[in-house]
Amino acid sequence: MENMYDFGLVGLGVMGRNFILNVADNGFKAFGNDVDPIKVNALIEEGGDTNRVNASTDLKTFVDSLSSPRKIMLLVPAGKVVDIVIENLLPFLNHNDIIIDGGNSFFTDTDRREAYLQEKGIHFFGSGVSGGAKGARLGPSIMPGGNREAYQHVRPIFEAVAAKAHGEPCVAYLGPKSAGNYVKMVHNGIEYGLMQLTSEIYDLLKKGGEYSNELLHQTYAKWNSGRLQSFLVQITAEIFEQKDELGEGDLIDKILDKAKQKGTGKWTSQNAMDLGIPIPSIDIAVSMREISALKEERVRADALYNRPDITTMNKAKLGTLAEKALFFSFIVTYAQGLHQLSDASKEYGYDLNMAEIAKIWRAGCIIRAGLLGDIMQAFQEDNDLPNLLLSPRFVEKIQDTIEAARELVSYAAQNGIVVPGLSNSLTYFDAYTSARLPLNLIQAQRDYFGSHTYERLDREGIFHTEWEE
Ligand code: 6PG
Repeated sequence: MENMYDFGLVGLGVMGRNFILNVADNGFKAFGNDVDPIKVNALIEEGGDTNRVNASTDLKTFVDSLSSPRKIMLLVPAGKVVDIVIENLLPFLNHNDIIIDGGNSFFTDTDRREAYLQEKGIHFFGSGVSGGAKGARLGPSIMPGGNREAYQHVRPIFEAVAAKAHGEPCVAYLGPKSAGNYVKMVHNGIEYGLMQLTSEIYDLLKKGGEYSNELLHQTYAKWNSGRLQSFLVQITAEIFEQKDELGEGDLIDKILDKAKQKGTGKWTSQNAMDLGIPIPSIDIAVSMREISALKEERVRADALYNRPDITTMNKAKLGTLAEKALFFSFIVTYAQGLHQLSDASKEYGYDLNMAEIAKIWRAGCIIRAGLLGDIMQAFQEDNDLPNLLLSPRFVEKIQDTIEAARELVSYAAQNGIVVPGLSNSLTYFDAYTSARLPLNLIQAQRDYFGSHTYERLDREGIFHTEWEE
C-alpha cells in the first residue's frame, strides 16, 4: 500500500470515529486503527465511499499507510492505555513522526511521555480536544502543546477541522510539553464551576420562585440570547424541554441527583493548591459532586434536621437577580481558572498566550461563551494581567451585577437553598478585592504559639514577639 494517508487515528470509539470523519470532510485522507474489527468496519462503512477514509485492525498496515512525517492521533482512554498504544506503535515509527494524544491525560504523564519519545526522535503532543462527540464531528476546540516546529505539520489539518469563531479556527499552538493538556485540564475545571453555578440558579428559581420546567426553559433560552450566551446555558434551556420517554412528565425531574466525574476538575483543584492559586468556585464544584454522591447519607441527614420554610420571591424579580448573579459568578469563575493558567505558565515554562486561549475557547468547546470575546480583549490589552478582575474592562460588568449576587446569596442562606458556587464566587471576589484582610491575626496567632514570626505594615523586617510575657 502506498504512503498516501495524511492523518492516522488510533481509537475508533465515538470521539475517534467522529474526528476522523471530520478530517476526511475537510479534504484530508485519514486512516483509522482499532483493535475492535467491528469499529474498524463501521468506520469503513461510514466513510469509505469518500475514498478518503480507510481503517485496519493491523497496526503495521495502519502505520505504513501514512505519509511522512506520520501524524498519528490517539483518542483512547487516558492512563495506561496511552502508554500501551505508544509502545505498540514505536517499532513501526521513524524519526520525526508525530504522536498526538487527544485524551484528557494528566499533564505530568504528558511531560513524561514527551521526554521519553524525544529520546527516540518522535514528537509527542498532548492535545486537549473539547466539544464532545458532536464537536469532534463538526468542529471541536483543540488545545495542542509540544514541539513548535513539529506542530507545523499538524497545523493545516487541525485548523481545517477545528470549530470556527468569526471565521478563525479554534486551535492554536499553546506551548511546549504539557501546555495543551494543562490548558484543557483548567478548561474542565472552569466547566465544573459553570455547571455547578447553572444548577444552583436552577434550584433557586425552582424553589424560590416556583418556576415550572417550561418557565425554566424560557428563562435560560432568553438568557442565552443575551450576555450569558454560552453552550452550557443553551443546553440547559434545552434540557428543561425534554420529555421523559420512559414515563410521564419531564426527564429532568427523573434524573438521580448524583453527579459523576472523571477527575479533570479534581486535578485542577489539586494543582491549584500546589501552585498556591485560589480557585474556590472550582473547588466547591468538585466538592459538590462528592457531596451529591453521598445520596443515602444525605437522605438520612435530611430527616434529622429542620430546614427553614422557603419564603418565595416574585418570579420576575428573582429572574432578574438570577441573571445578574449568574453573569457575575461566571466572570469570577473564568477569572480564577485563568489566574491559575497565568501562574502555571510561569511555573512550568509554558509561556502561554492568554488572549489566544480565550480566542480558541470561543467556539467548539464546552465552556464557549460570548463572554470569552471580552476575556480575549482583556488579555490582548495586557497578556500579563494576573487576574481578570484587575482589567478595567470587567469593572463595570461586576459593578452592575454584584449587588444581585449579594442579595441572592443572602436570600438563599436564609431559606436554606444550597448555593456554594455562588457564595464562594462572591466571597472570593470580596476577598480578592479587599486591600485589608484580617489575616494579621493569623500571623499573630502563628507567632504566639509557634514563634513563626510576622512582618509589619509600618517597617521592613521580620519580627517575633514574646507574647506570654
Ligand atoms: C470536553 C469535556 C470532556 C469531559 C466531559 C466529562 O471538553 O469535551 O470537558 O473532555 O470529559 O465533560 O467530564 P466529567 O466526567 O469529569 O464530568
